Amino acid sequence: MAEHESLEFGKADFVLLDNVSLEEFMANLKLRFEKGRIYTYIGEVVVSVNPYRAMNIYGRDTIEQYKGRELYERPPHLFAIADAAYKAMKRRNKDTCIVISGESGAGKTEASKYIMQYIAAITNPSQRAEVERVKNMLLKSNCVLEAFGNAKTNRNDNSSRFGKYMDINFDFKGDPIGGHINNYLLEKSRVIFQQEGERSFHSFYQLVKGAPDAQLRSLHIQRDPTAYTYIKVGGQIKSSINDSADFKAVTDAMKVIGFTTEEIQTVYKILATILHLGNLKFGSDGDVTLIENSKLVSVLGDLLSTKDENVEKALLYRTVATGRDVIDKQHTHQEASYGRDALAKAIYERLFCWIVGRINDIIEVKNYDARVHGKNTVIGVLDIYGFEIFQNNSFEQFCINYCNEKLQQLFIQLVLKQEQEEYEREGIPWKHIDYFNNQIIVDLVEQQHKGIFAVLDEACMNVGKVTDEMFLQALNGKLAKHAHYTSRKLSPTDKNLEFDRDFRIRHYAGNVAYSVVGFIDKNKDTLFQDFKRLLYNRSVLPKSISLWSSVTYICPSPSMFHSSNPVLKAMWPEGKLRITEVTKRPLTAATLFKNSMISLVENLASKEPYYVRCIKPNDVKSPLLFEHERCKHQVEYLGLLENVRVRRAGFANRQLYPRFLQRYKMISEFTWPNHDLPSDKEAVKRLLQGCGFEHDVAYGKTKVFIRTPRTIFSLEEQRAEMVKRIVLFLQKVWRGTLARKRYRRMRAAHIIIRAYRRYKVKSYIREVNRRFKNVRGMKDHGKHVKWPTPPKVLRKFEDALRNIYNRWWAWTLIKDLSPEQLVQIRAKVATLECLKGQRADLGLQRAWEGNYLKKDSPGTASSFTLVSSDLQRKDKFMRVLFSCNVRKINRFNKAEDRALLITDRHLYKMDPVKQYKPMKSIPLYNVTGVSISPGKDQLVVFHTKDNRDLIVCLQGMVPAGDSRIGELVGTLLSHFKSEKRKLQVNTISPIHCSMNGRKCTVVVETKINQSQPDFTKSRSGFILSVPGN
Ligand SMILES: Nc1ncnc2c1ncn2[C@@H]1O[C@H](COP(=O)(O)OP(=O)(O)O)[C@@H](O)[C@H]1O
Ligand SMILES: [Mg+2]
Repeated sequence: MAEHESLEFGKADFVLLDNVSLEEFMANLKLRFEKGRIYTYIGEVVVSVNPYRAMNIYGRDTIEQYKGRELYERPPHLFAIADAAYKAMKRRNKDTCIVISGESGAGKTEASKYIMQYIAAITNPSQRAEVERVKNMLLKSNCVLEAFGNAKTNRNDNSSRFGKYMDINFDFKGDPIGGHINNYLLEKSRVIFQQEGERSFHSFYQLVKGAPDAQLRSLHIQRDPTAYTYIKVGGQIKSSINDSADFKAVTDAMKVIGFTTEEIQTVYKILATILHLGNLKFGSDGDVTLIENSKLVSVLGDLLSTKDENVEKALLYRTVATGRDVIDKQHTHQEASYGRDALAKAIYERLFCWIVGRINDIIEVKNYDARVHGKNTVIGVLDIYGFEIFQNNSFEQFCINYCNEKLQQLFIQLVLKQEQEEYEREGIPWKHIDYFNNQIIVDLVEQQHKGIFAVLDEACMNVGKVTDEMFLQALNGKLAKHAHYTSRKLSPTDKNLEFDRDFRIRHYAGNVAYSVVGFIDKNKDTLFQDFKRLLYNRSVLPKSISLWSSVTYICPSPSMFHSSNPVLKAMWPEGKLRITEVTKRPLTAATLFKNSMISLVENLASKEPYYVRCIKPNDVKSPLLFEHERCKHQVEYLGLLENVRVRRAGFANRQLYPRFLQRYKMISEFTWPNHDLPSDKEAVKRLLQGCGFEHDVAYGKTKVFIRTPRTIFSLEEQRAEMVKRIVLFLQKVWRGTLARKRYRRMRAAHIIIRAYRRYKVKSYIREVNRRFKNVRGMKDHGKHVKWPTPPKVLRKFEDALRNIYNRWWAWTLIKDLSPEQLVQIRAKVATLECLKGQRADLGLQRAWEGNYLKKDSPGTASSFTLVSSDLQRKDKFMRVLFSCNVRKINRFNKAEDRALLITDRHLYKMDPVKQYKPMKSIPLYNVTGVSISPGKDQLVVFHTKDNRDLIVCLQGMVPAGDSRIGELVGTLLSHFKSEKRKLQVNTISPIHCSMNGRKCTVVVETKINQSQPDFTKSRSGFILSVPGN
């Protein structure tokens, strides 16, 4: 029961069909094919439908999914079968085999390759180089075998034209250590003839199309397959096969496998020999038969490393032994052609057998000691031709169908036997199962004395002329009563059978009519017999030899090759036997085939078998087409329905107790999540009782057996239902866990963040502390100390801190100052706040003395002091803010020298020439603002409420060039501030003012030859000219 496949893909196991009927079977097969599910089980048998397209199901990840899994745990797949065979081999130390059957083009060879690849992929975990080498050999040998044994047919572009059984040997660890290949019945007739649309074996085209020019020259071969009679037909076929690339691949593979250069050369020489043989033409001159194109004879002599005369004689004569005499008898034209073709076929067959033998030499297990290495176990893979029914069925089809008959018999027997053995092992009573037993047909073919093969052999042994019709008559005589045999003579009304030509067998797979034409010849391999006699006459050795001593069916053995080529010699070992030793009659083709089949079946029967049953969905290699009738016929003759019945007759499903529990334990409260019963078996019983399936199951020793598929479906349904809930439950728990985890992580993060912030704050404060700790003692009270960068949260705090510090710092600076100094500082601050960046020299660096007149004009200081005291008395001012000599513009727009005295109450203009006689005063509350220029000049305009602005330029400073504008503005500002009044200060050029109510401007200009600053009248007002420097 495969998981992960919903019913939309049909049933993964035919055993689970509701009714076992051909209709349901076909419907399921079709549905799965259409859904791209090419594999379906019947219990442990895989039914495979050729997809005719690349399937993405053989990759590394798929292999991983099947590795070590039980069959029903994953969707049906070849890999599951391969794994089961491998597990049985490894776990139970059993030899196993995988039998792949199906008709030509059904996908047997591909399946065998995937199986090999799977086994190669899952073995050798310890990566031993030797194991890798063996695996590589096994995979590579396939490439060579396919080149020589496969051909394009109308059914399959890469049809295997031989049966193949391959053993892979494993050591006790389950690593492959070698292998062996048996080949069966190569279709050698293809060497000389192909149906329309078909080709000869790939090897010929590979040679002609792919070999380098030099090599072709040495073989006397042209690069044109249509130049050679034997492959001409196939040479014209356009196909997707890339022969020249394959030539390289095959040559490389032969090298990798270990063929020597000489051996490879000989292989190609033999192929060339066959091509040339095909072009030989015989003619006749009277009674004498000749070779028309005798040039070819020397080509053949060259290729076979033998003398031209030997070749010619072998082709034109045969040697007949009469008693002790040996004579040469010339062939007729016809006989010579026949002999030539037989020779071609024989050489090719011998070559093929030799290649298989060579591969076997190389891959066979070496240096294996069972005492040291443990038991050596085997997995066999059988890829053999399937049942064939053609328009005209001859001896070959008869052999092939007999082979399938035997394999089918084995299949049914073993499936049954396996079931029976399993029941016995598990202690479950065995119930007899009725099935179609085709032993009767097997017997019809192979039984001694009575069987068709026996009758054929008997006919062949008769002396004198025996015809195919005589053989048919003998059959009719012997088998008249047989239920599975008939012919026109026995059922005269049957128009489908031809008199004296056809007989029909009721195979398990269907009725097949065979034409007896050619049976006798093919069975005798007649021409080979003649040819051999001919050949050993050629031998220089005097006595007769036995050419047919070998036990295996196959290769005939002309001894013409007294060749100096050692590889060729090795291919024809019996060539060295003496002529006179010929005594035994060779075994017939039928007998050889029968023997090889019997031994094959014996071999398979001794192993635990696994089956892959391949079905070909259509004849046009289409990935979409499912031809119902075609498939139905295959299902019938593969006995698949039978298989399902056998499998269901007992129990449709069986599972190990622990596995069963693992799968279904959620559907019972006794078993979920874990049971506390004494054994898994008890737990399974409890579970099934709970579900009410008690009547439908049997309890084996290790497995529970379930009779009907319904029960399994029901279990599956309940499981699916519960799985949903379990999934929800798991999701719930898991989501909760996730959320809690996330919450914990977030909280932890918060704590960390908080701690970190606190740490940052603390370390900031600590750092501030550290840096500012000693600022009191520092010269600049810590002004130079760099502030540490605060964390973001403390930016405002830092501002406040800096503010505090700055205040403290300011305070430390001013706290010891006298009131006078303080006044000065205030004024300077006022200047700075008001004019910073607006004028160059603010005079901040020097002491601000304010009352400069005394200092600037020491000669007249006493008069000034007198006037000043008078004014103080009169106007009651508290202090002098500023005094200085000025140049001023008078009422008549004329410039004149004056002195300026500003007290906290008035602004006085004085005449310095007249002992500082006060001229006019402006009450300070009348002053609204002052304007100054942005330059270096000492111009200042006092604005008054009554628009009688005062325009002056400070002058006569000591030292000269002192700038006092800053001081004047600052002192006024500071004073106004102390009186809580506003003073408007403009730094601007030109300065706008009103003189006696008239608007005018004052512009400052630099003049080179000006010695003192002075005013002149201009159109719009006044110009203050200052000296340039
Ligand atoms: N599993 C598969 N996936 C894709 N193509 C396949 C598969 N099996 C068979 N085929 C196609 O069918 C062709 C015939 O298969 P092959 O195995 O040679 O048939 P058989 O050996 O039964 O005569 C292959 O050449 C290939 O194109
Ligand atoms: Mg094949």
